[in-house]
Amino acid sequence: MQDLTQLRNELTASIQGADDLQALETVRLAALGKQGHLSLLLKGLGKLPPEQRREQGQAVNALREVITQSLQERRLALEEQALAQRLAEETVDVSLSVRPNQQGTIHPLTQAMYEIITIFKDMGFSVAEGPDIEDDEHNFSALNMAPEHPARQEFDTFYLPDKADGMSMVLRTHTSPVQIRTMRQTKPPIWIIAPGRTYRSDSDATHTPTFHQVEGLVIDEGIHMGHLKGCLVEFCRRFFGVPDLPARFRPSYFPFTEPSAELDIGCSRKNGELKIGAGDDWLEILGCGMVHPNVLENCGIDSTRHQGFAFGTGIERMAMLKYGIPDLRSFYDSDIRWLRHYGFATVNALSGKVNS
Ligand code: DAH
Repeated sequence: MQDLTQLRNELTASIQGADDLQALETVRLAALGKQGHLSLLLKGLGKLPPEQRREQGQAVNALREVITQSLQERRLALEEQALAQRLAEETVDVSLSVRPNQQGTIHPLTQAMYEIITIFKDMGFSVAEGPDIEDDEHNFSALNMAPEHPARQEFDTFYLPDKADGMSMVLRTHTSPVQIRTMRQTKPPIWIIAPGRTYRSDSDATHTPTFHQVEGLVIDEGIHMGHLKGCLVEFCRRFFGVPDLPARFRPSYFPFTEPSAELDIGCSRKNGELKIGAGDDWLEILGCGMVHPNVLENCGIDSTRHQGFAFGTGIERMAMLKYGIPDLRSFYDSDIRWLRHYGFATVNALSGKVNS
């Protein structure tokens, strides 16, 4: 039987004598490893008579704890020592030139979208989403455009193969179907905007087959045109950063709103330069109106109790006007020089341009 006190003294001395982490690991293996002193002692307990086994077992276990503890303390001390040594030895060469920072930029479309979301969030709206591939029902019928409705012809719709049940499928031509999905899923009060991708078979300097819109929908009790006006004028003033921006509502027609309007904001066009603010000209910004009672009823909302307003606008167009981008198609060219010129350093809610 090995004298445990002697073993303890020997192991403790080796632990204290280990002067780096590798040496300490060797000591640890010699004590606690599979073939280590303590492991062998524990294995040997089985051969002892029962009365000795208990006593010796407790003593070996106690020793194992003491050794484990000292190993840990020594490891911490050695680690601290190693760190202190590294700190003392390492130096920073402050004369070394900085590596060039290849930072990307935020696409103006993303920037505009974030700015729009920020303004409406401040007004209490939340963000809703819907699928890009829509069925005819959500994209048209529920929005008060029955199959023979002439307004359908105004959209240059991309059609997809019909569903098995015969339902006609499209790439959504506008974000308005998100209105239907929201009203069918949630009960009023509803205050949402729905930014997203939209598609029409059209391509020239002001049209691309893929573009982005943001839809807005408010459904509550006692909502009237005054709310629509206040909300949208405030939005335009904040988005364009012009506090006294003139605005006018022109009567218009959309199948899903009654009455319908288009919002124009003031601008001037001098020497071919467009300036947003007071001037003698107007610029069309968005379509809007009071949600048609048929649309409310199509979504199971009692139109005698709840009213609401809706609006929709093109995000690229808003970005072009705010940041002075002349050609819509350039948004999708992925030209790195264009991205560096019109891009933003970070998405910065409302500060406008950060760098270039
Ligand atoms: N969906 C319309 C379009 O793409 C835009 C629009 C107009 C949306 C009036 C609305 C609205 O919600 O009330 O041309």
